[in-house]
Amino acid sequence: MNKDFWQNLKKPIIALAPMDGYTDSAFRQICKEVNPAIIVFTEFTSADGLSHGAKTLKEKIAFVPSEQPIIVQLFGKEPQKFVEAVKYCEAAGFAGIDINMGCPARKVIRSEHGLALRKDPETAFRIVEAVAKNTKLPVSVKTRLGWDGNLDLDSFAKGIENAGANLITIHARFFKEVRFGPIDYNPLYELKSKIKIPIIVNGGITSLTDGLEKIGNLDGLMIGRAALGNPWVFNLKPVTNFSEKIPVIKRHAAYMVKTKGAKAGILQMRKHLLDYVSAMPQAKNFRSQLARVNNLKEIDGVLAEIKTSLAAESA
Ligand SMILES: Cc1cc2nc3c(=O)[nH]c(=O)nc-3n(C[C@H](O)[C@H](O)[C@H](O)COP(=O)(O)O)c2cc1C
Repeated sequence: MNKDFWQNLKKPIIALAPMDGYTDSAFRQICKEVNPAIIVFTEFTSADGLSHGAKTLKEKIAFVPSEQPIIVQLFGKEPQKFVEAVKYCEAAGFAGIDINMGCPARKVIRSEHGLALRKDPETAFRIVEAVAKNTKLPVSVKTRLGWDGNLDLDSFAKGIENAGANLITIHARFFKEVRFGPIDYNPLYELKSKIKIPIIVNGGITSLTDGLEKIGNLDGLMIGRAALGNPWVFNLKPVTNFSEKIPVIKRHAAYMVKTKGAKAGILQMRKHLLDYVSAMPQAKNFRSQLARVNNLKEIDGVLAEIKTSLAAESA
């Protein structure tokens, strides 16, 4: 991989957003099976922790070859910790390094990580510069419009570009809007002519068609929540038939068990199972069963029951 990776990538870039607790290897594999052209990111991972060689974090960002090109997302505030963490990521075979400068979670902000770096752009630029200088991999930044209504997006984007960033992804909301407040893509469209690096739009995209409309003059689109329970969002043609979804859901569960072990894999699969049926009022009666499954066999059993009940309803 080289620094031109993002520039040379076929446009529009279509990406699965990093989502802590969700976009682990199993879910990323499933999304890539739906659309092999998408780019996937790991869940955000502490640069400090990785720099100390934390085993749990190494496991957290583990991936399989079919996920390539996969980008690892790191958060932190100390340039040197990033440099050390990036050494590990390079050796592990990642295709790129993404730096989290957008997370608004209270814990993250209190530690001056994530979006807090938008209040301290000099540190943000120093991090990007240190990472860019010390890796062969492309470096990207994921951020938001800004901290509040004072739009410093242009100067921030120029700053990270000058520091060596090769791509910027922007969730088109401010800090205080967290994930549900008003969204404004216009500052992104206006930014496009002011920087050379590609720009990915993120936030509130509900389908591929919707994203291709919102992309405007930008280079790519990133989908987060709309992919939960719906990896088919990466297809132009939605999948609505539950029978068609079942083999994919089963494979997702099997990947979970394979990557996390039988106990943790199933426990963590439960929320995905609920996501898969969340838009189906007919499956309401099965939600409590899905929330309590203990193994792959039980998952198969409840999915089969849902299928039978849907067939009976439509008969
Ligand atoms: C459960 C959850 C976890 C998230 N974790 C991360 C993360 O680890 N790193 C990150 O940059 N953004 C994270 N985000 C933000 C998403 O990447 C994305 O920017 C946001 O959800 C807006 O996109 P959407 O409207 O398509 O979901 C997370 C969002 C959700 C809902």
